[in-house]
Amino acid sequence: WVLMKTAQTPTNIAVIKYWGKRDETLILPVNDSISVTLDPAHLCTTTTVAVSPAFQQDRMWLNGKEISLSGGRYQNCLREIRKRAREVEDKERGIKIEKKDWAKLHLHIASYNNFPTAAGLASSAAGFACLVFALAKLMNVSEDESQLSAIARQGSGSACRSLFGGFVKWIMGKEDDGSDSLAVQLVDEKHWEDLFIIIAVVSSRQKETSSTSGMRESVETSSLLQHRAKEVVPKRTIQMEEAIQNRDFASFAKLACADSNQFHAVCLDTLPPIFYMNDTSHRIISYVEKWNRSEGTPQVAYTFDAGPNAVLIARDRKAAAQLIQRLLFYFPPKSDTDLDSYLLGDKTI
Ligand code: DP6
Repeated sequence: WVLMKTAQTPTNIAVIKYWGKRDETLILPVNDSISVTLDPAHLCTTTTVAVSPAFQQDRMWLNGKEISLSGGRYQNCLREIRKRAREVEDKERGIKIEKKDWAKLHLHIASYNNFPTAAGLASSAAGFACLVFALAKLMNVSEDESQLSAIARQGSGSACRSLFGGFVKWIMGKEDDGSDSLAVQLVDEKHWEDLFIIIAVVSSRQKETSSTSGMRESVETSSLLQHRAKEVVPKRTIQMEEAIQNRDFASFAKLACADSNQFHAVCLDTLPPIFYMNDTSHRIISYVEKWNRSEGTPQVAYTFDAGPNAVLIARDRKAAAQLIQRLLFYFPPKSDTDLDSYLLGDKTI
């Protein structure tokens, strides 16, 4: 027999960035972060997990290609979920797995991203969140989403925020064992339905410095990171929570743009400096800043992760439509393929 479960998890985009760990193994951050979870119809991971007495070892396929599960991050997630596995019974098929059996049974895992890997968009957040959620369903784990988020966190920090929809906060926590470093939902996806998120794919090239090694180097060498984590983010997080609660787009945009810019300033303050944005990213920032100023009130917020692609958050449908028109005018795509990925976010309109 084979028992299977499938889960689907969207990716999330941070508006207050996580950058820097205080514990590399447990993945504990140096500051709180806040993100918005995207609509699952657009950028998401679907993962099917299966268990069978016929399986000889744990195996995993990502977008149809087998990958190694030997890395510490996968092992940590599998171990933590297995610890919490409970009895599972499928009466119709006469299958019963007792709690103690889970230690001996092996898993097969198949995971797919519904967005082109070539678009250069982060997938680890949705990937680990989905893996943990699917395994929790299969193994009848009783922990709630926040407790599961603390397990997904050990796969990739940003993954802990993908267990919820809407706006989500990853509380950094204080404990050395990481038990209080988990995600909570601030508001659900219905709270601020006016917002439209457009992703302008500036380059589909793989980033040169991974988030993991980039943030390690920043922790080791950037004094701006220390200042940011201790002085800036604690206050900014409170202001951001307020802006979200009040659906105050002007404050939201100001804080999100400032936080993205400071994160990239920390990257420049790292030795050797890390350049994630390119000339096009900078031109998009200038363009949005100018547009927002000319309107008197912000229409669009921008945020950039560890790469040059722009995540643009428009205040409403009208601003989103104008933004797409303007982007196509000022940054004309060079080919049809370019246009396809350029318009990835258009599906949200
Ligand atoms: C810039 O979660 O990819 O996207 O924990 O090492 O897997 P690891 O890093 P990762 O870092 C994400 C960094 C970021 C900001 C954010 O999502 O908060």
